[in-house]
Amino acid sequence: MNIKKLGVNIDHVATVRNARGEIYPSPLRAALLAEKSGADSITIHLREDRRHIRDEDLINLKKKIKIPINLEMSPTKEMKKIAIKFRPNYVCIVPEKRKEITTEGGLNVIKNRKLLKQLIKTLKKNNIRVSLFIEPNLRDIKISHIIGANCVELHTGQFCNLFNKRKNTFSSYHKIKKSAEFARELGLEVHAGHGLTYKSAYKISKIKDISEFNIGHFIVAESIFFGLKKTIVKFKKIINK
Ligand code: PXP
Repeated sequence: MNIKKLGVNIDHVATVRNARGEIYPSPLRAALLAEKSGADSITIHLREDRRHIRDEDLINLKKKIKIPINLEMSPTKEMKKIAIKFRPNYVCIVPEKRKEITTEGGLNVIKNRKLLKQLIKTLKKNNIRVSLFIEPNLRDIKISHIIGANCVELHTGQFCNLFNKRKNTFSSYHKIKKSAEFARELGLEVHAGHGLTYKSAYKISKIKDISEFNIGHFIVAESIFFGLKKTIVKFKKIINK
């Protein structure tokens, strides 16, 4: 069985820091501990409004972190410039709305097809692995493949909402499973993320075509009670059980 990778998203360490305008807790310190605890990559979302991660966090991480850095960013000129300048190992292109609390849905790959194709080309030329954050459906996977993405990250938000409310997840789960199978057939690497907890991640981890998970909010929340190290170690065991 392939080992499933865990990307640890540290955005909400920055959220706590920024809530008081302090310099603690340090996202860099969290990333170093995550690296020591077995995280396979560190994910940060540099939002246009810099509500959590800031430019200097990316700079500090680039200097000190040895595992790959996965930069989530919207497909804007500003973000493209930043990615080319700082060259994270991975970029995950995400949609962004100013007023949303978190990334609400996948990219509109039809409407933004040309823009995304160009951006993917530029990022790949700079040796950056490019992933597109999309809803789990075959049409968007096909387009992601045609426009040159290396990976797709399937949005698990709808599944997690139903799962947490103990509603029927059959259809939502099968959409993710079918999408993952199809993407693998096309040669794309398949990732999953958004809203995952121990229990929902365990269920999704049974989909063999998914090779990487990006998890943030729950890890930071759980760390309040168990510490970051124990939470990461537990997650890695769960997704590989
Ligand atoms: N993957 C992507 C593309 C995201 O935008 C987010 C949220 O920033 C996550 C994964 C992590 O989601 P969560 O914080 O709910 O675990």
